[in-house]
Amino acid sequence: MVVANRLPLDDNAARDGACEWRRSPGGLTGALHSILQQAPATWVGWGGGEGPGPRLPTVGSVRLRPVALSSDEQRGYYEGFANSTLWPLYHDAVQQPVFQREWWETYRAVNQRFAEAAAEVAGRHAAVWVQDYHLQLVPRMLRELRPDLLIGFFMHIPFPPPELFMQLPRRVELLDGMLGADLVGFQREQAAHNLAQLAQKLLGAQTGDHTVHVGGRTVRTGAFPVSIDVAEMAALSARPDVVAHAGKLRHDLGESKRVLLSVDRLDYTKGIEHRLTAYRELLRDGHVKVRDTVLVQVAVPSRERVESYRDLRDRIEGEVGRINGEYGRVGEPAIHYLNQPFDRAQLAALYRTADVMVVTPLRDGMNLVAKEFVAAREDGLGALVLSEFAGAAAELPTAFLVNPHDLDGLKQTLLRALEAEPADLRARMSAMRRHLAEHDINAWARAYLTALDQTGRLAQRLPQLQDPIQDLADSDPR
Ligand code: ADP
Ligand code: F6P
Repeated sequence: MVVANRLPLDDNAARDGACEWRRSPGGLTGALHSILQQAPATWVGWGGGEGPGPRLPTVGSVRLRPVALSSDEQRGYYEGFANSTLWPLYHDAVQQPVFQREWWETYRAVNQRFAEAAAEVAGRHAAVWVQDYHLQLVPRMLRELRPDLLIGFFMHIPFPPPELFMQLPRRVELLDGMLGADLVGFQREQAAHNLAQLAQKLLGAQTGDHTVHVGGRTVRTGAFPVSIDVAEMAALSARPDVVAHAGKLRHDLGESKRVLLSVDRLDYTKGIEHRLTAYRELLRDGHVKVRDTVLVQVAVPSRERVESYRDLRDRIEGEVGRINGEYGRVGEPAIHYLNQPFDRAQLAALYRTADVMVVTPLRDGMNLVAKEFVAAREDGLGALVLSEFAGAAAELPTAFLVNPHDLDGLKQTLLRALEAEPADLRARMSAMRRHLAEHDINAWARAYLTALDQTGRLAQRLPQLQDPIQDLADSDPR
């Protein structure tokens, strides 16, 4: 069983009850989608709308169990405590976290509802995999309701060092909530160290090698970097209609132009403003000219009821307008800005079209867009400019790594990537593709579930997907 804030359906699909598996945007649902669609499981989550969700059908082998949220609960739990307190704090406080006492009560009550929903439908001795910062109290609550369950918790976003976590007014409850799990997984090893330090400091726990002993139990911890369905993205980007669409995009953007591409949720952690400033300065200094270079910025709307996200959108749209006003020419904007969701095939076509993929978050748990770009580049070309502060940087060291806070460094790196020789690009891309071939979403789920259930029972139930190693090896032009 998976328990996550969102069901893997977007609002439209959920509202009309269509029996269609439509992925909601965001890394978490994308990651779990390909594993679960063929494995018998129940997914407990919010359908995205207000009030009681519609009756949802079983999708493939996944039974959907919606959790209803009222509009006040969305405000206090989702927009408030999860996305205005925890989200900014866990992302290095790149935006000031907001602490509002009444949000805590709603967060706790909604976590209790998720725990009760899971307890109600879980079979005896079932394995329940709780996801992300929205549901940090659920492991403890669920253990109290159902001590027979095997409980896993995975944090998709960064887990901060004690200096930041200690700011949280309800830090003890939050920490204790996670430690209700049998295994707490993170994207990076550093996050597991942070948890151990905090457990010692706040709960007087004893810690060992990837273990926290507290309250007479031993909780295991570890790093399990999440990934993507590499074979799916590789196959998609090679599909004739996607290749044709990429050709059309290239024609529309200008056959001889160098194309920079960014694809983000419109979120202040993604570094979009820093990137636009760097690009404006490159245009101003004449290092980049509108006649031969263009930036495509896809920024899918996200969390639009949260004020800081609305403000960010206004600032970004103002800056894109200023840059286009100042540097664009008739029929030739400096930046194409697309504030829309795209389907997977359209994204794959965009990835194929880019000369330089610019992924420069200020902090990111992983960043699956970077991995999707690599998986889509069967031609072995294309440069990836990647922030050192994305979890993906630890796995893709042959990308053009950059500190997005260092504007001069960012500008220089963008120019290096734009001017790199094909042989250099091929060598870099080939190393990244080799890594991804062995570290796809299936490998992630297998590693986590094997660690959770050391009998191997759970991992055996994962679908046998196509072998991405073979797929990528076949298409790699090395
Ligand atoms: P996060 O989890 O913070 O959203 P990730 O980069 O890990 O960031 O995951 C983002 C996911 O959302 C990727 O799978 C990406 O393909 C998808 N996505 C990004 N932009 C769009 C868009 N405009 N339309 C649809 N999906 C998108
Ligand atoms: O990766 C972090 C995360 O919050 C995921 O839980 C989610 O898939 C994604 O970002 C999108 O966020 P939201 O569900 O708030 O639209």
